[in-house]
Amino acid sequence: MNSRYDEVSEMIVAKFRRSLPMAAEMGIIPYKSENGRWIGSPYEGNSWWTGGFWPGLMWQLFNATGDEAFKQEARRTQQLLTDEFRTYLQLNHDMGFMYLLSTGADYKLTGSEQARVDTLHAASLLLGRFNPCGYIRAWNSKAQMGYAIIDCMMNLSILFWASRQLEDPRFANAARIHADMSLREFLRPDGSVSHIIELDPATGKRVAEHPGQGYCLGSSWSRGQAWGLYGFTQTYLNTGDARYLDAAQRIAGYFVSHIRPDGLTDCDFCQPDTEERIDNIAGACAACGLMELAKATGEDKWQKAALRLVDGLLAHCCDWSEERCGVLTHCTASYHDDGAGRHTNITYGDYFLVEALCKLRGTDPMLWM
Ligand code: GLY
Repeated sequence: MNSRYDEVSEMIVAKFRRSLPMAAEMGIIPYKSENGRWIGSPYEGNSWWTGGFWPGLMWQLFNATGDEAFKQEARRTQQLLTDEFRTYLQLNHDMGFMYLLSTGADYKLTGSEQARVDTLHAASLLLGRFNPCGYIRAWNSKAQMGYAIIDCMMNLSILFWASRQLEDPRFANAARIHADMSLREFLRPDGSVSHIIELDPATGKRVAEHPGQGYCLGSSWSRGQAWGLYGFTQTYLNTGDARYLDAAQRIAGYFVSHIRPDGLTDCDFCQPDTEERIDNIAGACAACGLMELAKATGEDKWQKAALRLVDGLLAHCCDWSEERCGVLTHCTASYHDDGAGRHTNITYGDYFLVEALCKLRGTDPMLWM
């Protein structure tokens, strides 16, 4: 064990112990923090795709410390998430992000049967979005009926999980078909990935690529690269299919070749150098994916790259002040839309930083699987 990572982890535990009562008093699921206050999701209330990261963070801290306060806070907020089942129309393909880290984590760490059933419910909602022409529909507007997005690679694990739980291949079959479509349509020859591909909902044939949260059409939004890297790695771990491992390594090679000299991650690897725009969520998530990739392949180069990312975040972008809430700074939700946060503390950045540190310390329960 490396005492530096232990020390930082203790500082993170102390910081969240201090700041979690405020979230409970406010009755919200923290999305980001600014000026010493937690702030809830910027869009669509508790059905916004990020709601699982706060309970996921609490479960990680509970697992690392055994402190019941973290468990209570996880349960308080995952109740808000399961209430969202009743909205139905506001939910989209982000069932893995929302429920694997909340109810799924609860089942994994405590064996709660209700949490298992809630997670199966979420998996069934995701399966309901599968178009048999070959993809999982991302969003809900009529104009977006054929949209699939790279982020969905991170949502597939809940389907594989449900197939294992129920001993029923339906869920895993849909996940594989979507992953194969992603291999075909998203992965580019240089190892980068697209963000949004539109398919014809009647045939599954490619219609167009659309610009998403990155700099422009055809550019390489770094968080999308991280979703692809970690998502294909998880899909390999779920299936043992070497094609997914190969894809994960190609995306990893591309990502690693774009890490900044200071270990931080630009918001888009094709962004102009006239204005600095960093997204540390991408770096923290990629570090988690790289560590899983290192284990899966036995290749030390991926572990070294993960350490470059984690060390960069710890050296330059952690806020240890007592009067502010979260830890990781310079998180950016989207290249062009600052509404969800730019160069600020965002909860899912903290989640991936903590997951990465738990992996380094050997305490990560691998909530994604
Ligand atoms: N899944 C949406 C995002 O990464 O912002």
